[in-house]
Amino acid sequence: DWTMGAYREDAIAKIKQQVGDKRVICGLSGGVDSSVAAVLIHEAIGDQLTCVFVDHGLLRENEAAEVVKMFTENYKIPLIHADESELFLGKLNGVSDPETKRKIIGGLFIDVFQKYANGIEGAEFLAQGTLYPDVIESVSFSGGPSVTIKSHHNVGGLPEKMGLKLVEPLRELFKDEVRALGRELGLPASFIGRHPFPGPGLAIRCPGEITIEKLEILKKADAVFIDQIRKHGLYDDIWQAFVAILPVRTVGVMGDARTYDFACALRAVTSVDGMTADYYPFTHDFLGETATRIINEVQGINRVTYDITSKPPGTIEWE
Ligand code: XMP
Repeated sequence: DWTMGAYREDAIAKIKQQVGDKRVICGLSGGVDSSVAAVLIHEAIGDQLTCVFVDHGLLRENEAAEVVKMFTENYKIPLIHADESELFLGKLNGVSDPETKRKIIGGLFIDVFQKYANGIEGAEFLAQGTLYPDVIESVSFSGGPSVTIKSHHNVGGLPEKMGLKLVEPLRELFKDEVRALGRELGLPASFIGRHPFPGPGLAIRCPGEITIEKLEILKKADAVFIDQIRKHGLYDDIWQAFVAILPVRTVGVMGDARTYDFACALRAVTSVDGMTADYYPFTHDFLGETATRIINEVQGINRVTYDITSKPPGTIEWE
């Protein structure tokens, strides 16, 4: 794609000019946007870039390991892997209000990021994978379709507070263009095609109070659902798919015994930009097979529902 080839050259030149010989830190979420930003900046300034990946314990099964592997093996980009799950889950204990969850996560994210950034001598710039839709929607939108620091809310003050200047090389791009740029930069296809994942992660897919027990059940059910979608070749037709564990237990029967376990909801939507969305029209066979697998393979869930709400009036996430 010659357009993206030109964009890449131009962006690299601009980054070099902006940054000079100073150091840049980049918050990595494992999402496409921050990953593409990191790789692009690394190409421009090499080891002047340090990435910080904050693991809040609210990622999907195996996700942290995959992100670290992809960055350390494929790119040799200096990466700090900050496992702060105990901190985040501790502060979220007993919290059930969605916006309070977001505020706690956003606040902790800033604290943690700052802690690690302070240790990087001479850092003058903060890199973010801000996209054009983030720029235009940043006020009215509950979330933001991507997962860099900016979408954890109230982060406008972060760079100023830290005395950092922003590097945002994706500011003019839409999601599909970021993916094209990622391909141009040689990121693995599996990475580029990944569904968007919200900054607060599984916290907003666990309506009500978050417990370790619920998170573990949710991770397993989610992994089965995504596995089903991949096995049926549907992953690339879907914008986002996930499981939400519901704050309700329901009665079921397994063999001769009565069960009293959690209900969950499957969510899968098509969308162009996350602003509007339609539920994905799975076949009943697919849904039935998925429900059977989740109930058989995931202890703690005995009822599976499919969310057929479009956006609007629904949102994509459950919180
Ligand atoms: P909703 O649920 O508002 O989500 O329809 C639209 C898109 O935004 C993502 N989302 C978030 N991303 N922080 C984020 O980084 C958030 O607080 C947040 N809330 C929602 C959601 O996954 C979807 O892609």
